Order: sequence, then C-alpha cells, then structure tokens
Amino acid sequence: MLHEKGLLISAEGCDGSGKSSALERACARLKQEGYSFLLTREPGGNKISEKIRNIILDIDNKDEDIKTEALLYAASRRQLMAQQLFPLLDDNQIVITDRFVDSSLAYQGYGRDLGADEILKINMFAIDGRFPNWTLFFDLDPEEGLRRISSKRGEKMDRLDNEKLSFHQKVYDGYKELEKKYSSRYISIDASKSMDEVYLQTYKILKEKIDDFLAKVK
Ligand code: TYD
Repeated sequence: MLHEKGLLISAEGCDGSGKSSALERACARLKQEGYSFLLTREPGGNKISEKIRNIILDIDNKDEDIKTEALLYAASRRQLMAQQLFPLLDDNQIVITDRFVDSSLAYQGYGRDLGADEILKINMFAIDGRFPNWTLFFDLDPEEGLRRISSKRGEKMDRLDNEKLSFHQKVYDGYKELEKKYSSRYISIDASKSMDEVYLQTYKILKEKIDDFLAKVK
C-alpha cells in the first residue's frame, strides 16, 4: 500500500492534558541520546499550515462555520503531509506529531457533532489514508484538564480553550470511542499522574516503539 513506509507516531488528548510538555521533554531526551526524527505539531508545522492555524484560533473569528473549521484543519494537515511528512516517511524516517487526524475526529466529529464518519471522509482525502502507526493518548478527565488550564496564571486563552466543559466532555468521550475503534494503534497514558511520571512514560513508550522500528528497518 502507498505511504506505509516510515514510522508515524501521534500524540492526542484533551486540552490541559499535559501532552505537549511531556512530548517535548521526552523528545529532547531522545534527541540527546542520538535518535533522529521530526517532532511537529498540528495545526501548524510549516508556513502555510501556521497561517491556517492562525485563522482557526483567532479569537475574532466567532462567526466561523464549524464545517469551515473542519476543512481548515484538514487543509492544514494536508499541507503538512505533502510538504514534510510524506517525503520523510517515504524515506523510511520517523515523525512524531503533537495532534493529528484523531484530533479532528474527536473535536470536530464528536465535540462539534459533525459526525466522526463525515470527518473521517474529508481527512482520508487529506492524509491519503496514512494513519499513525501508534497514537499516544494522554488520558485525563476533561474537568481536571480545564482546571489545570485556568490555574496557569497569566496564560493566554484561545477561542477553543474558552469553550464550555460540555464540549470538552464530548471530545473526551469521542477519544474514548476512538481508543476502542483503533485499539491496535492506541496506547493510553494516565495523564492524571505527576508531570515527571507522565514524561517518563512518554519517553519509555517512544523509545520502545522507535527501537522496534529501527530494528526492523536495519
Ligand atoms: P493548541 O494551542 O495547539 O493546543 P494543544 O497544546 O492542546 O494541542 O491548540 C490546538 C487546539 O485545536 C486544541 O484545542 C485542539 C484543537 N484542534 C481541533 O479542534 N481539531 C484538530 O484537527 C486539531 C489538530 C486541533
């Protein structure tokens, strides 16, 4: 099948799950140890995708249609795939991405009630069916996630962070559905643990999956 080469690992979870900091710390350590990979984030990761990200997250865009939002996420993802991910994966390299297609399934499909099947369709077009080999799911009760965000004093809240808890609960429930549906690629991390523990678990899982992959491609 097309684009089955390389190793693609995504990190997923609700806002405030500590996903991004655990991932950055784990990846910095792996880099120090000599591992070579690209760490990127969604929405964004290149000039065009960053511009699309700014439109989506702009607090002034209150009248943005939810289908427009879903298409913009898919467009940003497509650009990242075409410009960076596919060339690396086709060259049998390793890519780790902070959020990927499951964010759209959870946030737009479940959170915004657009339906996971509809969102899957537009995203299949965007990613040419290249799902991650592994998805690290940072599992945290959404209420705790929101509590963490608001207790971080002085943090700039974006439009999406301001949404109500009911939205985040739907996103979380969506992730739990995806975890069942895609159980063979989902790896759950208990994000209610301390930052150090979450980071260490992230590091260990990434190292194991990368080592397995490198042993196979040798
Ligand atoms: P960001 O500030 O990058 O948050 P985080 O550190 O939690 O990843 O903002 C990303 C926001 O965009 C986050 O609330 C999730 C949302 N999102 C979607 O709704 N759909 C998507 O497809 C993606 C990639 C993100």
